[in-house]
Amino acid sequence: KYGIFTYDPGYQSTASCSSKITYIDGDEGILLYRGYPIEQLAEHADFIEVCHLLYYGELPSQEQKQEFDSIIRHHTMVHDQVNNFYRGFRRDAHPMASMVGVAGALSAFYPDSGDVSDPRHREISAHRLLAKVPTIAAMSYKYNTGQPFAYPKNSLSYAANFLHMMFSTPCEEYVPNPVMVRAMDRIFTLHADHEQNASTSTVRLAGSSGANPFACIASGIASLWGPAHGGANEAVLNMLEEIGDVSKIPELIERAKDKSNPFRLMGFGHRVYKNFDPRANLMRQTCHEVLNELGCQDDRLFQIALELERIALEDEYFIEKKLYPNVDFYSGIVLRAIGIPTNMFTAIFAISRTIGWITQWNEMIADPEQKIGRPRQLFLGPKKRDFVPISQRR
Ligand code: SDX
Repeated sequence: KYGIFTYDPGYQSTASCSSKITYIDGDEGILLYRGYPIEQLAEHADFIEVCHLLYYGELPSQEQKQEFDSIIRHHTMVHDQVNNFYRGFRRDAHPMASMVGVAGALSAFYPDSGDVSDPRHREISAHRLLAKVPTIAAMSYKYNTGQPFAYPKNSLSYAANFLHMMFSTPCEEYVPNPVMVRAMDRIFTLHADHEQNASTSTVRLAGSSGANPFACIASGIASLWGPAHGGANEAVLNMLEEIGDVSKIPELIERAKDKSNPFRLMGFGHRVYKNFDPRANLMRQTCHEVLNELGCQDDRLFQIALELERIALEDEYFIEKKLYPNVDFYSGIVLRAIGIPTNMFTAIFAISRTIGWITQWNEMIADPEQKIGRPRQLFLGPKKRDFVPISQRR
């Protein structure tokens, strides 16, 4: 019941662990963070409350929230020398490339973070990562644009501060629209944790050796980048742009069903959800809210996405394979409406998932029974044989 799997070739689960953080029922489309349904958290909580809930196991009181929020706000700046890392990248470096590098390099600035046996050191690392990952993500974007970095502002909420660091310039302060801030905050909540997905399992495996938490988070960012995982939100937008018109949808559906080619409908399918991804429903609703606010309900890509979902859900192949929209199907449309460029979509997923990664890492390290991860294999290679001198090889 707590996600304990043993090796099953049909399931390819490579790690087995128990956890008290996030519960998923793939058949019923249930997602609970520490027992609270994602629908209720998305509706009533903000991301800082969700971060407190995930890491400490309980929703914060008003006073606890204020204290936690203040700690995070006062850790958002990075050491000024971190700026130098960016100058080593090409201007067109993908934000995930620079984030993998800079997140790992932050371990060099906090030598105490290496002492993972001390719960207080682990907590401080969690605060630093939660606070600084948005800053390094926004710096990746600013570096791409050639604009100067925008320093974080302690007066702003988590989501508003990120949008400020993305879009403010020395010439003009970005004034965040409350609907966009709320949408950004909800996107952070919906992507915060998701049990033992590929990137979280990567962080756990890396952390099981006692590695520095900043380096472990860098490994999670690397895994998340893949188009089969967090990179899907960027791939969905590219796919919707490629479709261009609803009349092209049937052709794309046929391509996705053709086993002779590797094309997959991006934003569809999930290893665990076999009926629906509750986050996709909430993301679609957020799409409506943001596009209504902007007065572009008939946004071309959104209309294509809605029609693609409608057609796919009536298609026999998709019904038989239990393929439904996942969290990435609509998130890119919301991010695009906020003004975020496509190549930053997965970086935003990484900002959100940092709390999930560091909470799962902390749970693992805190377990006195914990040992270094060491998945085994089924060996399918050659049987034992003797060496052949090169003179006798054909
Ligand atoms: C995330 O693990 C998590 O929790 C991840 C995540 C999180 O929050 O961390 O939820 C975030 O990564 C969401 C997934 C984003 N990726 C995509 O949208 C990329 C497109 N989706 C696929 O690549 C795929 O659906 C996966 C990777 C998500 C799941 O792949 P699986 O495990 O192979 O899917 P499956 O075994 O359930 O597939 C069943 C069948 C297979 O066909 P058969 O081998 O049985 O003939 O459905 C096919 C698959 O080939 N299939 C698809 C498809 N997804 C699966 N066919 C067409 N289009 C697709 N999108």
